[in-house]
Amino acid sequence: NRFPSQEIQQVIREHGGSFKPPCEPVHPSNFGRIKDQLIEKHALVLVGPPGTGKTTLIDRFVSGLGEIACARGHCVQHYGSGEPYHPVLEALAELCRADTEVPALLRAVAPTWLLQLPWLSTVEQREALLRELVGVNLERMLREMGEFLDRYTERRPLLLVTEDLHWGDRATIQLIDYLARRRNRGSLMWLSSFRLAEVVASDHPLNALRHELHLHGLCEEIVLDSFSEAEVAAYVAERSPSMASDESFVRALHERTEGVPLFVASVTSDVAARSAQDGIASAALLANSPVPENLCAIIDHYLAKLADERRLLLSAAAVYGLQFRIDTLAHVLERDALWVADVCDQLLREQLWLVASRARGQGAPLERPYSFRHALFRQVLYDRLAPSARAELHRKVGAALEQERGMGGAVAASELAMHFDRGRAPLAALRYYAEAAQAALLHVSPAECMSLTDRAFSLLGQAPLGVERTSLEIELATLRGVSAFHLLGAGDEARSAYQRGSSLLADVPRHAMRGLLLHGLGFLHNLRAEYAEALATAHRADALASEAGDAFLTLAACTVRGHAYMHLGRPHAARESLEHALPAMESVHAASQQTFIGFIADPEVTVLAMLGFQLAHLGLIGE
Ligand SMILES: Nc1ncnc2c1ncn2[C@@H]1O[C@H](COP(=O)(O)OP(=O)(O)OP(=O)(O)O)[C@@H](O)[C@H]1O
Ligand SMILES: [Mg+2]
Repeated sequence: NRFPSQEIQQVIREHGGSFKPPCEPVHPSNFGRIKDQLIEKHALVLVGPPGTGKTTLIDRFVSGLGEIACARGHCVQHYGSGEPYHPVLEALAELCRADTEVPALLRAVAPTWLLQLPWLSTVEQREALLRELVGVNLERMLREMGEFLDRYTERRPLLLVTEDLHWGDRATIQLIDYLARRRNRGSLMWLSSFRLAEVVASDHPLNALRHELHLHGLCEEIVLDSFSEAEVAAYVAERSPSMASDESFVRALHERTEGVPLFVASVTSDVAARSAQDGIASAALLANSPVPENLCAIIDHYLAKLADERRLLLSAAAVYGLQFRIDTLAHVLERDALWVADVCDQLLREQLWLVASRARGQGAPLERPYSFRHALFRQVLYDRLAPSARAELHRKVGAALEQERGMGGAVAASELAMHFDRGRAPLAALRYYAEAAQAALLHVSPAECMSLTDRAFSLLGQAPLGVERTSLEIELATLRGVSAFHLLGAGDEARSAYQRGSSLLADVPRHAMRGLLLHGLGFLHNLRAEYAEALATAHRADALASEAGDAFLTLAACTVRGHAYMHLGRPHAARESLEHALPAMESVHAASQQTFIGFIADPEVTVLAMLGFQLAHLGLIGE
């Protein structure tokens, strides 16, 4: 069923004619190619090095969609693990803002996704949803998204855009894989972009996916070319007809920049500015001045011209991210917010370093209103910072974001972890890695949880010894155990993670996750037919529970023991243990629902199912 439905073909054809004529000489032929491929395959990827115009082309394409709904999200460079499904959640949030019926549809068919957009539910609804999520696996999330998209596109065709997939997280790649392989794609279209070199160099999971999809004819890639000389001429003409009439200038410009659009745009505006200032002809300027050899070099050339204060401000912003807020930046720089706003406004007017962030949705206030003109400008500033200065800025940005978050700002734990990690503040980084690992489980993304705990473990040695470090290690080990189980099954990876946590429990016997940890470890032992170890784990949970009442410990002890007895052929003993688990379950329910994340399987379902077997063995069918 690779052929799209009739309606979508019609909608795209009808609107094909109304795609806005590009106000800049964007390669017009690319519009036609995008349109044709989306009609035929429903899925298309724009490929090219930095600055070749992928975003520009998507912007123009999206601005002329008419009746077709569009949900757009970007992957962010996170130096490590990002937030699972970031671009998809961003796109969903945009869709929710644009179409008020979307939240209800999510509630009806995709509750696990609704949960990821917390502002759409009340606290009570969220608690109830969280309860449902226990033991949810990845497949369910994928299926729910498929169902949601089916229902949505019954009403209206949808273009889902995910940009910069070279920074994409594994969960997003998996979702794309799933959506692309579904037989019925309805009137869903998917448009994406990535930088090929980065995907190949980093051995990104996207690599395997693109080969697979291509092989099965499920997706097409368009590799964007640089500007030809004629296109460079057209580009320059749009800005300055006098410059364009100078053929030697256009030729030199094309040669020097190899037609890379971002490079062409930068050099053109630089030369235009200087030529206006000094009254020298543009061709002469280009011929006499050492035009940098590549994009990074031209950015360096601008960098050298920055006044100290501006450079410091922009460097801090570069550490912060591609987009940023004034208050946070002011905090980092320990300067007055008005001053920061003033400098940013000047930079915005000059359009060299900063531009206004792309507006999202209708009337939605922009969280981070300023944006670097291009990711490469940010990257060069960042790379040119001395390591110690960079670390200090990361620490300060981390602290400022922490404060912003304290006041209700939406800052992801993984972002904070990255800043403190790079800021060489290992203990703070570990704290946020643990939180991010938990959030990854909440996103049903065990792979992300694994890589977060990997990074955190490698950082442990740098943190000072003490109770806090041990506590964090226990928490990380527990979360790793759960994710390893979901990802790799009851193998050694999961067992050694749980054992690592459990061996440290003696140092922090009152650890909040102790019940969850021993429940997981015992459960795993039972699955591996290690019954003596399972019973020893149950015993340990009992011993801890007798010191201080803790429903999670009791639940762990009773479940693990009952499970072991069940396998050992002792139905009476199993029944007794499992029945003791039931009152503990009630108390666990009363505790925060959030703590349920991290059970390998729904504890209530497991206990009741095992109890059912034992009662049946004992002939108590009615019970
Ligand atoms: N077709 C075009 N017409 C005019 N200018 C263009 C065109 N394509 C790109 N540019 C110029 O080049 C700049 C960089 O393009 P863009 O941001 O779209 O690149 P990109 O491929 O998305 O890069 P990245 O991989 O870094 O995201 C634009 O801001 C614009 O100035
Ligand atoms: Mg781009």
